[in-house]
Amino acid sequence: MTVPIISREELRHLLERGAPITVLDVRPAAQRAEWCIPGSVHVDAYDALRRGDPTVLANFHSINGGRVVTVCAAGKTSMLAAERLRARGLDAVSLEGGMRAWSLAWNTAVVPCPGNTTRIVQLRRTGKGCVSYLIGSGGDAVVVDASLEPQVYQRVAVEHGWRIRTVLETHVHADHVSRARALAVVTEARLCLPMTDRVSFAYEPLKDGDIVPVGSASTRVLHTPGHTPESVCYLLNDRFLFTGDTLFLTAVGRPDLEASAEQAHRRAHLLHASLQRLVALPPDTVVLPAHTSEPVAFNGQAISATLRVVQERTSLLRENEETFVRQILTRLPPTPPKHHRIVALNEAGMLPDDPTDLEAGANRCAVA
Ligand SMILES: [Fe+2]
Repeated sequence: MTVPIISREELRHLLERGAPITVLDVRPAAQRAEWCIPGSVHVDAYDALRRGDPTVLANFHSINGGRVVTVCAAGKTSMLAAERLRARGLDAVSLEGGMRAWSLAWNTAVVPCPGNTTRIVQLRRTGKGCVSYLIGSGGDAVVVDASLEPQVYQRVAVEHGWRIRTVLETHVHADHVSRARALAVVTEARLCLPMTDRVSFAYEPLKDGDIVPVGSASTRVLHTPGHTPESVCYLLNDRFLFTGDTLFLTAVGRPDLEASAEQAHRRAHLLHASLQRLVALPPDTVVLPAHTSEPVAFNGQAISATLRVVQERTSLLRENEETFVRQILTRLPPTPPKHHRIVALNEAGMLPDDPTDLEAGANRCAVA
């Protein structure tokens, strides 16, 4: 039996439209726990499908009687699942490339901004949890922390009538391959990074206090070392704070990647000072991080919170320096897979032909 497949982009559109489909994830539970498609249903059918168990998925029904999209890690076992369901008369299709391909699926949300002059679009890699931004004002746009293919930003900018003038990075990333340099090349935009000797390509260096214009708006650079030595945050119109991996909505950045134990300890102290500087900003400052650890729903809701709420939810922000350093270094999550290779590519400003293997898996940048 030939099993029809559905591409990542087709599935993304269906979920964005709220189409009546059921996404059936057949991976082992441990893989699902790592990351999944928001709203998907899980049946741990992997082993049974592989060994040809005739009873597998015999009782499965789609939620609403509509199409079922089967998903596995790489798009092979999901074909077996779709075949079983089709044999029972269900309209089942298999996600081409599985979760590996889904890594690049994205959705957007508009961050509410007062007035009509500045707009912020948040672009989320729904599986991977990478969050990037397009800030538009007066026909010009700035991109922060580009983690998707350059055409995605170009397309969204055109939809809003913006031209991308500047591409900003908050730091040298370790969990995804940066698309900032490639985006700057295709859009002929300025490429601005916090000043660092880590990278080997040309860029415009930014330092604490620098102002980056966006149409009639402006972003101020705050040097906030700790997650990495060069990490910065960008404060737009004294109201919107793009925090990179320095501060998340319920957690803070990890200080240990690409660092010895001694360096991690020193960075943890720096991070404490940087975070104290951020929490001294007005409590209604809107925090816009570069990552989330949950799959991002197709609900158009921005991933953001006021500094007041972030402080309430993040106990590490309330600790004194000594306790902060001790706690953060004892709560470090497992190191992200392949981060050495990703950092090397980002320091060289290179993109691999196929980043899916390198970037597979959820984000592990945060310490709660
Ligand atoms: Fe990072």
